Amino acid sequence: MRLTTELFGVKFQSPVLLAAGTCGFGLELAEFFDLNDLGGFVTKSVTIDPRHGNEAPRLTEFGGGMLNSIGLANPGLESTRREKLPWIAANVTRAQVFVSLAGHTVSEFFRLVEGLDGDEGFLGYELNLSCPNDARRDGPPFALDLDAVDEIVSGCRARTDRPLLAKLAPNDLDLGGTVRCATDAGADGLTLVNTLPGLLLEGATGAAELGAGPGGISGSALLPVGLRAVKKARSETHVPLLGVGGVTAPEDAVAYARAGAALVQVGTASFASPRAGLLLARGLEKWGRERGVSSWTDLVCSDEDEGRSS
Ligand SMILES: Cc1cc2nc3c(=O)[nH]c(=O)nc-3n(C[C@H](O)[C@H](O)[C@H](O)COP(=O)(O)O)c2cc1C
Repeated sequence: MRLTTELFGVKFQSPVLLAAGTCGFGLELAEFFDLNDLGGFVTKSVTIDPRHGNEAPRLTEFGGGMLNSIGLANPGLESTRREKLPWIAANVTRAQVFVSLAGHTVSEFFRLVEGLDGDEGFLGYELNLSCPNDARRDGPPFALDLDAVDEIVSGCRARTDRPLLAKLAPNDLDLGGTVRCATDAGADGLTLVNTLPGLLLEGATGAAELGAGPGGISGSALLPVGLRAVKKARSETHVPLLGVGGVTAPEDAVAYARAGAALVQVGTASFASPRAGLLLARGLEKWGRERGVSSWTDLVCSDEDEGRSS
């Protein structure tokens, strides 16, 4: 099966990308395989200042996947510019890279775009509007506030010509409204979904398993949540969708395509095997070959398929 797909004015040699926060800035996985064999990756979310993240333990497992509260640990804007992007520019030549941005305020998103936009090494931005752990210091994530979505996306749009993805939340009771708001404000694509808020407690003591208390659920438990979100978004917009949540096997990626995702992202699976993204891309080729499917794009449900006229 041919995996290449053209989106945002460039070629993705595979629909498989690594998800934000699960592959660092690429270098962290480079010893395990050649990142250029993937469609691309999204960097760890970058904040203005460096962040050490939340109290340990930050990750724990359960039957349906993982719970994390990393707390956006990252080197901050200036180190990203000075150390991370030059490495990406020199080493990641075929895979497409999105830099994930996490402001704590609306204007921090603008400062991040302004700070990075002249640099090389990446295609576009993924706006992390939906981190359940920390993105906004008080109140719900930006993705659950339509005014904030509008302000952040339109303000970033005014500051860059690069492709802009808005990453939305899984627990959005008005996802259709948020999808319309983000795309009306100028998002070129949507990433669905971020982790789902959750909590794990130790049976013996009742203490939270994570140092920070609650965290974000990722992995298999998120697959049906992500599929539902992508399907809903597909019925509302024609922009490219990136499906993320619980992808471990080729069948999961195909399900996202059937729901309307042109690209998929792999997160938690990379913790079990750092080569998970690569294995998934190879598995997809085999999946198509065995079923006589010639191209990934044939699998992707379009908005016309959904009966929506754009
Ligand atoms: C350890 C960890 C760190 C993450 N950090 C980020 C992050 O910095 N920014 C972001 O937008 N999403 C972050 N995510 C969410 C993932 O990008 C992804 O949306 C989520 O894990 C669902 O995909 P999965 O089920 O394949 O893991 C993180 C997820 C995990 C497990």
